[in-house]
Amino acid sequence: MKIQSTKLLIGLALAGIASGFGRKTEPTLKAAFKKDFYVGAALNYRQISGQDAKATALVKQQFNTISPENLLKWGPVHPQPDKYNFKPADDYVAFGQQNKMFIVGHTLMWHQQTPKWVFEDAAGQTVSREVLLKRLEDHINTVVGRYKGKIGGWDVLNEAIDDQQGDLRKTKWLEILGEDFAAKAFEYAHKADPKAELYYNDYSLYRPEKREGVIKLVKSLQAKGIKVDAIGMQGHYGLTRPSIEQVEASIVAFSKLGVHVNFTELDIDVLPNPSRRQGADIAETFGADTKYNVYTAGLPDSVQQKLTKRYADLFALFHKHRDVIDRITLWGVTDTDSWLNDWPIRGRTSYPLLFGRDYLPKPALQAVVQTAK
Ligand code: GLA
Repeated sequence: MKIQSTKLLIGLALAGIASGFGRKTEPTLKAAFKKDFYVGAALNYRQISGQDAKATALVKQQFNTISPENLLKWGPVHPQPDKYNFKPADDYVAFGQQNKMFIVGHTLMWHQQTPKWVFEDAAGQTVSREVLLKRLEDHINTVVGRYKGKIGGWDVLNEAIDDQQGDLRKTKWLEILGEDFAAKAFEYAHKADPKAELYYNDYSLYRPEKREGVIKLVKSLQAKGIKVDAIGMQGHYGLTRPSIEQVEASIVAFSKLGVHVNFTELDIDVLPNPSRRQGADIAETFGADTKYNVYTAGLPDSVQQKLTKRYADLFALFHKHRDVIDRITLWGVTDTDSWLNDWPIRGRTSYPLLFGRDYLPKPALQAVVQTAK
């Protein structure tokens, strides 16, 4: 009898370890940085709805802020002039509320994933400034208004600065509305929910030209009395570029504007990038080529170590600047979900996040948690 129960206890303990019970004592991301900033992830609908139950559990365990990967972009939420598709966004917001998370809205004005009808009349002709302003205001009122008091902050404007000289990007918004397109979007958003935080969000902001372009834009908004709460540095980075010093220079420069700085779409691409631009322009894609899909059988240890060090270096920098940083959001939960499996080349096996395809933490997770100490 005694022997049997001892055996039973050992058996239970082993089963507990095998099922991951032992890991429960490891600090989570949200606990480690509790005093510093929120840590979050961008979610897809399978995670929100619980269809990807393991990912949903990870999100609840690790993160205290969420962003919608796609479902609040103009195309998905407002596909036709008189048709809004609110169900996925409603579920997203409900998920955040149930789990007491800081809920982010993404994004109100962008040149991508915005349907053509927004800029055209029934005959396919470009609409006037007046018509487009009315459409923008209606859209922002409807979407921001619906989640007033629930979504804590909005990426009002996404990627409005170009990759060359840091000028305003040549988009339909600029072409039709003129230079005050940004001011209008921020004004409408503020009117729709005066308490929501409002952000400008972009990639490659470590580059001096883009940094200066954003500073100019934000200063012009501030001169009009428009409140910009934070600049979102997307953070689609590589293993070696940009340097920590380059990222830091932008954190410091932006904070001098009196705004906060968030890292809003963090991921680290370990795969070779055929582009020489090192940006994250989703329009820049390349044909499939096996020489760029190099880790289909798993990530070699040497690369895993580089990824670990890279994440640790970045989080050490974030921790150093925690007085101006409110939030670090990873662009996905596990490697399976990452957009980097399909960009800039479709169908690759990518390893950019802190959790692997097996839903288990990578060595980088522990290294990141250590930086909070
Ligand atoms: C940009 C957008 C995101 C997302 C990524 C790629 O960074 O801001 O919403 O589309 O590209 O997934």
